[in-house]
Amino acid sequence: MHLGRTTLSKFLIQELDGRNESRDLAALLVDVASAIKAISAMTAKGALAGVLGSLDTENVQGEVQKKLDVLSNTAFVNTFQRGGLVAGIASEELDDPIAVACSKPCQFLAVFDPLDGSSNIDVNVSVGSIFSILPSPKGREPVLQDYLQSGRQQLAAGYALYGPSTMLVLTVGRGTHGFTLDREVGNFILTHPNIQIPIETSEFAINTSNERFWEPPVQRYVAECKAGKTDVRGRDFNMRWIASMVAEVHRILMRGGIFMYPKDTKDLTKPGRLRLMYEANPMGMVVEQAGGVATTGRKRILDVLPDQLHQRIAVILGSRDEVERLERYHQEYDTGVDQRYSSPLFKERSLFQ
Ligand code: F6P
Repeated sequence: MHLGRTTLSKFLIQELDGRNESRDLAALLVDVASAIKAISAMTAKGALAGVLGSLDTENVQGEVQKKLDVLSNTAFVNTFQRGGLVAGIASEELDDPIAVACSKPCQFLAVFDPLDGSSNIDVNVSVGSIFSILPSPKGREPVLQDYLQSGRQQLAAGYALYGPSTMLVLTVGRGTHGFTLDREVGNFILTHPNIQIPIETSEFAINTSNERFWEPPVQRYVAECKAGKTDVRGRDFNMRWIASMVAEVHRILMRGGIFMYPKDTKDLTKPGRLRLMYEANPMGMVVEQAGGVATTGRKRILDVLPDQLHQRIAVILGSRDEVERLERYHQEYDTGVDQRYSSPLFKERSLFQ
């Protein structure tokens, strides 16, 4: 018996008391949690359930779909369709949004990445799901344009981490809170209330195999971290890269750090690797609500107005001091303050001035 534990439902009832809209949001987040429990059960069974490996299909971004990508997507889609609380859904695994029949006027749109970090599935390393809840237009069926809202409009956002334990971390705009799945009982229990990201950190996360494609401010920042005590930073840094954004963000929420998937020149058709609407925005809200910062290097992520559903964006997030330093390096690069790392455009301009 565990008396007095705060379950997700109890937490949401207390957190979102009052207006009808809030009650529906609480109910919707309970639906999200039930999809997450189903995905958690599938990922935990792994090879025993025959869910590992790839399919012959590709998603809209041209990525080969894993069986679990599709199964997780179905878990979310079915949950939202049966729940009757959202007017429409959009997913990394669906080319276009789907309108959903509502039992009453629905106030929400759900946007999600059903299984993030899916290159880790077959090697049994942590993966996750990411979700964002946006307001729906009133009195009519949503169209594509209705989804293209900035991250500031999010009513709730969060992620599930399928790691050694399954956790659900979410925000409704009043702090970021973590729940751990009690598998025997099937409840999410509040275990990490009011998570605060440490302001300072000495740990960075970036895929360094892309180093030659990064912009100079990122090269500068990482070079200084690697030089540690021997250079301007005056202290040694540690590095981690799991290749699963959810796991990376979770580590940063727990002990601080900076995560970077910056703009690079590896593929000039892509202004970043991560997706704005169902990766950067929800993670940006979770991080900000925990006292961290989320930026492209040049702009707050939550202020970016999307022009496409599957749009990609540069993402730099985590502990305030480090993220702000890297923002400053971008500014110094763009304005030519730091001559070693200033923009070639600026150098050209100043040569001819
Ligand atoms: O598609 C998103 C993602 O899997 C993130 O979860 C992760 O941070 C990143 O891509 C990993 O990228 P890479 O394969 O370049 O390390």
